[in-house]
Amino acid sequence: MKYQDIDEAFTRTRPSLHTLKRILHFIKPYWREIIAPFIIEAFWAASVAITPFLLMMAIDDFIVPATQGIEGALGVVEMLPREHARNGLLIVSALMTLNVALNVVLQMVQRLFIRRAGEKAINDLRRHMFGHIQRLSMDFFDREKQGRIIARLDRDIENLEPLITFVPLFFVHCIFSFFIVLGILAWNDWRLCGLIVAFSPLVLAAGFVSEKWGLPVYRRIRKTVSTMTSQVAEEVTGVQVVQAFGREEHNLDQYQNLLDQYRSHQVAAAHVRGITFPSMIMVFGIARAGVLLYGAHALSAGHISLGLIPAAMMYIGMIYGPIMMVAHLYDHLLSSSASSERVVQLMDYSPTIVDKPDAKPIPSIEGHVAFEHVYFKYDDEPDTPWILEDIDFEAPVGSIVALVGSTGAGKTSITNLIPRFYEPQQGRILIDGIDICDVTQQSLHEQMGIVLQDNFLFTGTVMDNLLYGRPDATEEEAVEAARELASYDTICNLADGFQTDVRERGGAISHGERQLICFTRAMIANPRILILDEATSAVDTDTEIIIQNALWKLMEGRTTFVVAHRLSTIRHADTILVIEGGRIIEMGDHDTLIANRGEYADMFEEFIRGPDAL
Ligand SMILES: Nc1ncnc2c1ncn2[C@@H]1O[C@H](COP(=O)(O)OP(=O)(O)OP(=O)(O)O)[C@@H](O)[C@H]1O
Ligand SMILES: [Mg+2]
Repeated sequence: MKYQDIDEAFTRTRPSLHTLKRILHFIKPYWREIIAPFIIEAFWAASVAITPFLLMMAIDDFIVPATQGIEGALGVVEMLPREHARNGLLIVSALMTLNVALNVVLQMVQRLFIRRAGEKAINDLRRHMFGHIQRLSMDFFDREKQGRIIARLDRDIENLEPLITFVPLFFVHCIFSFFIVLGILAWNDWRLCGLIVAFSPLVLAAGFVSEKWGLPVYRRIRKTVSTMTSQVAEEVTGVQVVQAFGREEHNLDQYQNLLDQYRSHQVAAAHVRGITFPSMIMVFGIARAGVLLYGAHALSAGHISLGLIPAAMMYIGMIYGPIMMVAHLYDHLLSSSASSERVVQLMDYSPTIVDKPDAKPIPSIEGHVAFEHVYFKYDDEPDTPWILEDIDFEAPVGSIVALVGSTGAGKTSITNLIPRFYEPQQGRILIDGIDICDVTQQSLHEQMGIVLQDNFLFTGTVMDNLLYGRPDATEEEAVEAARELASYDTICNLADGFQTDVRERGGAISHGERQLICFTRAMIANPRILILDEATSAVDTDTEIIIQNALWKLMEGRTTFVVAHRLSTIRHADTILVIEGGRIIEMGDHDTLIANRGEYADMFEEFIRGPDAL
């Protein structure tokens, strides 16, 4: 399935059947817990509708008979003794209080139930999505921005929660209240009921008109706020560049611009509110006045009791309030379903590189690697040029292969194919004679170590990071590995030694220290095949020597592919692949290549003359 860009944060869509089905799948296990709040909701709606009914009872059965009397069978006006009226009213008010208490309890229980069930379903969904993203192939991460992936897992999932919890509950509440109240009214006087129903389209229209009018303004506010937030985020992340280029004033002006926009949108929103809110109140008022007018007429004609009039006034609020909310809720529903659309789209996006159905784990690797006439490009379009062309070489067990060449030549692309992060369109890659496409990716990755240019350290301590590749290793083994690589002293010199807290992306640790930690991490994982993308960043001579020694120790006895920038690493290599424009233009060890007097010899010459590394 094609991954579309529907990521406009403020889009609204109707939920598609497919999306609903995918989301329902996560609710299904909890359907029993979800049903309960809906049943409670019905009782709650009934309980709310009882209060006006009790008021009507109090007026018609006790207040009126006690003050004006009621006509008896012989046309004689009978007065209800005040004593009886008082007792009756006491009972009615006790019932009212009980009803309110019941109302509160029902509301509390219902909220608890729906939250619990909803949270469980949402947690399952989050877990599923997290696992799914971890399995996606690299091409997805090349194309999709980090921020967007995070937003789908974070904001979108949060945003779709009302779709499965409060929105349907509210609809159920509206429907139940509507019918219960209409039932009570119709039972007392069908004309009054008809009148209230007749006004409902007007109320619904008022709700939709004000929502439609207000929505663009509210959306503009939300958009401005989101732009302001992202400006602040960029400012914080790139603060060094901001200061280095002296852009503070300029950025402040930009921010002021946004603030001005924000203020004018807020003023516009206040205007909208200033008009729509009173108009809604007016529609309500008209409906109430209509009911009152009819009530007076019906009362004098003897169609209704006096108590029905105040009760009907209360019922109007109960019916029209939710009707007005429907428009607002509808917008909420569309926003929620746009979020769920985005989540489901990501859910449906499958990894491009999948294990074959009969794929088996690769047996314990010796470390012989062969590229057989490999052709590769990142996209699959027929008319784009190859990034790698006819890459064909062998790396014997335990050998060191150095890849050299100018920037963009294709060195990293070659190393990316060995763990099958990408698949070549033509040719094969064999490890110990086994095509890597025939084995499971996990088994392949487990026996491979990768140290990248941009060394990544995870939040946690240095020790946590060291054990990342082999969680079953003991701390003693980690310390031992650090000693062996001579990174021990460097790590001990950090603020808290092995227990030093590494901030996200390793911000608190220097480049050189980070490299050593990553080498040690790879050493502990003890892979048979090692891939190193040497960092070019300069470190001081002492650290350079430590890093160099650590590197050699790490490479010992493993088949290593190293994208090399250090002359010492390159000279140490058994095979040097000189890559240019995606092709191997020279291959051999240092002495052979120098003797050939080709591209490598020129590069070497330049290196000895100039201060720059290869
Ligand atoms: N993920 C990607 N998607 C599309 N094109 C890519 C991707 N990664 C690299 N390329 C392109 O492939 C070519 C080879 O890139 P590669 O990263 O392999 O070069 P390199 O030799 O490692 O360069 P450097 O020394 O700068 O790291 C470049 O033209 C680059 O723009
Ligand atoms: Mg590279």
